[in-house]
Parts: sequence; structure tokens; C-alpha cells
Amino acid sequence: MRKPLIAANWKMYKTPAEAVAFTEAFLPLTASNRHAEIVLFPSATSLPAVIDAIHSSHIRVGGQDMHWLDEGAYTGATSPIMLKALGCTHVLIGHSERRQYFGETDETVNRKLKSALAHHLVPIVCVGEHLAERESSHTASVLKRQVAAALLGVDPNHAAPLVIAYEPVWAIGTGLTATPEIAEEAHKIIRAQVAASLNSIVAASTRILYGGSVKPENASSLCRLSDIDGALVGGASLDPSSFAQIVHNAMA
Ligand code: PGA
Repeated sequence: MRKPLIAANWKMYKTPAEAVAFTEAFLPLTASNRHAEIVLFPSATSLPAVIDAIHSSHIRVGGQDMHWLDEGAYTGATSPIMLKALGCTHVLIGHSERRQYFGETDETVNRKLKSALAHHLVPIVCVGEHLAERESSHTASVLKRQVAAALLGVDPNHAAPLVIAYEPVWAIGTGLTATPEIAEEAHKIIRAQVAASLNSIVAASTRILYGGSVKPENASSLCRLSDIDGALVGGASLDPSSFAQIVHNAMA
């Protein structure tokens, strides 16, 4: 009932020409995919080129971040209306790099989530604990706090497209992957918090992705677990054959 979602977060990599070259190589490799929702998150400057290149394919494209307001004097920011006008269908919200380097807080995540839902963008809200928090047994409380804060005031009747990505910060770009047991346990905590904050029907239909050093070799053992509904992939999504292999393995 929850459609698997496999997403590529390209962060600050790839010029428009490089992004189009990826897309041209990647599309034939996943042309037979009928089961996974595949979403590319290029940098803002590559969005138009990638949206043009995936035209009429099964691939979707989203922004890596957005402001919560429709417009205003916010130099450097991109609004939900601008993402929609380009043809974006999804948006990443609260990635740990945004929280760490760009002042993203639980409160701004909450504003952005409500705005994305209002604009019919599929929001992927990222949560996850730091290593010190895991080592001091605070993982559950951090995840509950982040999810509860993100969902504060969200109308359960309009929350349907919600996606959450569990990305333990210690696993991002480090080559350290959460074991399937660690990931499954975190996903259960997150789903329980969605039920507490919204309701159990929304919780049952919310897709929860795992992110953090996902590779072709570990995609299958993670994605076969019942509470893991897909993957948010950084480094290993930059190469078309590697990302296509992840899609295949995640669906195997
Ligand atoms: P990684 O990044 O796959 O390179 O660890 C994941 C992410 O930051 O979304």
C-alpha cells in the first residue's frame, strides 16, 4: 500500500550539462521500473534542464530546499510557487546539512512542511540523530522531538503526501550505514510519533525512507524491511549506473 520511493539528493554537485548527461544515461537503465517512485533532487540551477530531460518519463524532480513564503525580500531563497512553476513535484525539507550549515530549525521545518502541503508539493522531511545523541541513548527522544515539531499544527486530513526520511547524521557521507535493525527500530519510533501527532491512518500510509551511505550493496537488506519504504541517496546517486542499481536492488 505504500509505494516505494527512491530519491537522489545531488547536493551541490553537477552543472546543468552534467545533470542532463546523468539523466540521459539513467533513463534507459530504469525504463522498465513500474513499482518505485524515483525522484531526482538536483541543485536549483539544474532544475529546468533536468525537468526538460525527464519529460514524459516515470521520473519526478524536486527542490533540495525552499522558503515557506510565496514571495518576498529573501535574497537567495526559492519559493514553493517557483518550484511548482518549473515543474517540481517534491521538495526536501530539513536535511541535516541545512540544519547544520544554514540555520534550519525544527520551527522552520514546520513552516516549510505546512507550506509544501498547501502547495501540493510532496514533502520529504529529514530527521536523524547525531552520533553523540545515539551514544548517549537519546536517539528516540531526538526523533520524537523532530517529528513532533515538524508536524505541529499540520491538519491530518491534508497530510497524506507526507514522506519522512530517517537520516542518522553519523551515517551521512561517512560510509557508515545504519544496520537494518537500527534503521527499522528508528522507523518504528518515527511512525509511532506520526500516529501520536496526527493519527494512525496517516501513520500507516506515511512513507519513511532511510538515508545515510546507501549503496547498491546495502539497498536490498535495508529496503526489504517492512517499515522502510525506500531510500534517500546522496553520494551513490551521482553515478547513473550506481543509482539505477540501487533502484533495482531496493525493489528486489
Ligand atoms: P549519503 O547522503 O548517501 O552520501 O550518505 C545521504 C543524504 O545526505 O541524503
